[in-house]
Amino acid sequence: MTVFRVRGFEIHKGLLNIAAQHAVLEVLRGVVAKAPLFQPDTPYGKKMSVRMSAAGSYGWFSDRTGYRYVTTHPDGQRWPPIPVEVLAIWNQLTGLARQPECCLINYYDTDARMGLHQDKDEADFQWPVVSVSLGDEGLFRIGNPTRGGKTESVWLQSGDVVVMGGAARLTYHGVDRIRAGSSTLLPKGGRINLTLRVVE
Ligand code: SIN
Ligand code: MN
Repeated sequence: MTVFRVRGFEIHKGLLNIAAQHAVLEVLRGVVAKAPLFQPDTPYGKKMSVRMSAAGSYGWFSDRTGYRYVTTHPDGQRWPPIPVEVLAIWNQLTGLARQPECCLINYYDTDARMGLHQDKDEADFQWPVVSVSLGDEGLFRIGNPTRGGKTESVWLQSGDVVVMGGAARLTYHGVDRIRAGSSTLLPKGGRINLTLRVVE
């Protein structure tokens, strides 16, 4: 396991070994059985290409009226709790007593992508965001704390974990493409990304 920094993002290569990846995947199956993946609408009227769900007291949500955190799945039920196996990753890397209130679950099929954006719907940017990659590799683009300028890209592989915090907490980032067939973790392929966020 090695750690490197790109523009203030801390990339923990291979933090989760195969057994740990399977263990997280297993608990996520329980979460999405209760809170099925859905395809949010963007404020611009198009569907996001990524499918989403969440665990915790809040889930991130998007529709025609904008982006926000909500306490229920679109089906009206509260989000399931964040599994302890996932909280353990937060605890290991941040050492913070403060626990995340949202574990956003993003599923990318081969054609899905996510445009450059900041994570800025949270109340307090002193807390980091921790991002876990599972399944096929994703080309992760890292920009700047303000819009525009040069960017750098890194391939995130299954088991890699990124901490986006400190001066880089509001750095623009996105996912340009998924490398189909690059991992055998997910039987049907694709990529899962979890982001752990303190919301309040
Ligand atoms: C996100 O920014 O919410 C997801 C990042 C990723 O999929 O790696
Ligand atoms: Mn983000």
